[in-house]
Amino acid sequence: MRHLTDIPDLTAEEIDELISVACDIIERPDRYSQVCLRKKIATLFYEPSTRTRLSFETAMLDLGGSVIGFSSADNSSVAKGESVADTIKTVSCFADIIAIRHPKEGAAYVAAANSSVPVINAGDGGHSHPTQTLTDLLTIKREMGRLGDLTIGCCGDLKFGRTVHSLISAMSRYSGVRFVLISPEELTIPDYVRCDILDKNHIPYKETRDLETSIPDLDILYMTRVQRERFFNEADYVRLKDTYVLTPEKLAGASDNMRVLHPLPRVNEISVSIDSDPRAAYFRQVRNGKFIRMALIMMLLGLTPGF
Ligand code: NCD
Repeated sequence: MRHLTDIPDLTAEEIDELISVACDIIERPDRYSQVCLRKKIATLFYEPSTRTRLSFETAMLDLGGSVIGFSSADNSSVAKGESVADTIKTVSCFADIIAIRHPKEGAAYVAAANSSVPVINAGDGGHSHPTQTLTDLLTIKREMGRLGDLTIGCCGDLKFGRTVHSLISAMSRYSGVRFVLISPEELTIPDYVRCDILDKNHIPYKETRDLETSIPDLDILYMTRVQRERFFNEADYVRLKDTYVLTPEKLAGASDNMRVLHPLPRVNEISVSIDSDPRAAYFRQVRNGKFIRMALIMMLLGLTPGF
C-alpha cells in the first residue's frame, strides 16, 4: 500500500508519470470519468482550506467516485478529544483513500501508520504540502515546457510556508535548477531544507531580502503569504506581513517569459491588477490542482482507465 506523506515518497519517474497522466486527463477527461466508480475519498481537514479540499473532492467526483469527510475538526469526534490515530482507524473502515490536513507537523505520518488505506498529506503544519507541489510542477511544465534549467525565486514566508519546502524538495531533483530565496531575515528557510536538500544535493541558491533586484533573473516567481497562524505573537506578524507586495511596477522588471505562481490564498502580497497580466499563472495553477490529484488518486489506488 502506498501513501504520500512527503515528496521523497515519490520517485522522479513517478512524478513525471503523474504529470503525463494529468496532461492526458486534460486532453481526454471522458476516458477517466468512471475509473473510481464506487470508490470513496475521505477528506479530513483539521485546518481551513478552499482549494486543496475542494480540488481533492472534485478530483474524486470527476473520476466517478464519491466523497465523505469533515472540513473542520469542530464537527467531528476530534472535538471530544479523539486522537488522529483513532480517527484514521475509524475512517479507513469507510473510505478507500484519505486526504488529511492537520496543524501539527508529522500528523500525516501518524495517519499513514494507522491506516489500512492510502493516506495523502494535504498539509502538515509548517512542514510540507506535497500535492500543492505536484500542482506547482504540472503548472511549471505546462507554462514553461520544462522542469529543468530554471531559476526559481521563492518569496515571502519561507520559514513557515510548507509549500515552499516541498517545492524546493521536488525541484532540486531536476538539473540546472537554481533558487533565489527572498525573505525577511526572520522568515528564511528552515535549516533542514538548507542542509538536507540544498547543500546535500549541491543546488545553487542565493538568499536575499530584496525582491525588486531579484526579479530580472527569474523564470518563476513563487509568491507566498506570511503564515499568520504559525506565529507565536501577533506583533511579529503585523510587522512582517506586508514586507513584499508584487505590484505592476515591480513586475515591469521581469522577463516576458517569467511566470508568477502562488499556492493561494493571497492576502496582500500580489496586487490584484497583476491578475490580468499573462505572466500571472496562479489561477491556472488552481485548475491544474484538480488534474494532478486525479492522477495521484488513481496511482495510489492502482487504477487505470480500462479502455
Ligand atoms: C497553502 C497551504 O495551505 O499551505 N494553500 C494551499 O494549500 N493552496 C498556502 C497557504 O495557506 O498560504
